Amino acid sequence: MKHASFVLSGAAGLTHDRIEPDNPFFAVFGEALAMIVSDLFSAADACLMLDDPDEKVAQTCAAARHWRAGELSLQNGAPPTAIGEPGRPGRPQLVSPRQLPRRSLHTPEGHAALIHAIAHIEFNAINLAWDAVYRFRDMPWAFYDDWVRVADEEAYHFGLVRDHLRGLGFDYGDFAAHNGLWEMAQKTAFDPLVRMALVPRVLEARGLDVTPGIMKKLAAHGDHAAVAVLEIILRDEVGHVAIGSHWFHYLCTQRGVESKETFRQLLDQYMNGRSKGPLHRSARLAAGFSEDELDYLQGVG
Ligand SMILES: [Fe+2]
Ligand SMILES: [Fe+2]
Repeated sequence: MKHASFVLSGAAGLTHDRIEPDNPFFAVFGEALAMIVSDLFSAADACLMLDDPDEKVAQTCAAARHWRAGELSLQNGAPPTAIGEPGRPGRPQLVSPRQLPRRSLHTPEGHAALIHAIAHIEFNAINLAWDAVYRFRDMPWAFYDDWVRVADEEAYHFGLVRDHLRGLGFDYGDFAAHNGLWEMAQKTAFDPLVRMALVPRVLEARGLDVTPGIMKKLAAHGDHAAVAVLEIILRDEVGHVAIGSHWFHYLCTQRGVESKETFRQLLDQYMNGRSKGPLHRSARLAAGFSEDELDYLQGVG
């Protein structure tokens, strides 16, 4: 459990009282313990491992700001550690998807549970973006720039959805949730090509397909504020899937493998073949899918 914030080495004119002897990355500023980082990988790790959602959001925004200002290097001698559990709060309780109750939108709890499920996706998405930055070394500078932007936008999405949930009288952690997103991070931690194929191009892309239907339901229920939040999310998520498509194709080209066939093989191996349900074709085309891939996903190609 880390509750420290991090600061850049020498940032903002802060002078630390002492470096913690056991860990040169920590220093004491007055009463506060802070992590000193000067490279992006340490910043990503620090954000990934923070448990408290407010701290994770605040530090994610700070890290993205420092990255954009050119204050974080890509130099770090320490290789990434094996993937484990990310930082997350004690609640929500994580259960298998089958244990999640089906609820009607027409009760206050059902309405809040739907918004909570979206908040949970966005919280996980912050961790997934930071893990992509932290884990995959030797990628071009633009890869890190893209995934820092994704982390920053996911933090923004989480904040919007959590605020809305609070407005309904509930908070993040009030309902059980499943751990499918992080489980996919664990399954794909060994290879950025597999991660790009299965996280942005399968899981986030599924979000593009289902979001318009959720917006329709919420609009019919009169929750226009939630619809406005989902409009922002849908717009940004097209960009996230496009980033995944770009780096998936980059890695296929680098390795001399055919991207369409590689994607099909990964779907067979990890997703039992195809994606379920109708596709949001225009959003997926904007996010770097080809017509051929969409036909295949729909089972008609
Ligand atoms: Fe998001
Ligand atoms: Fe996303």
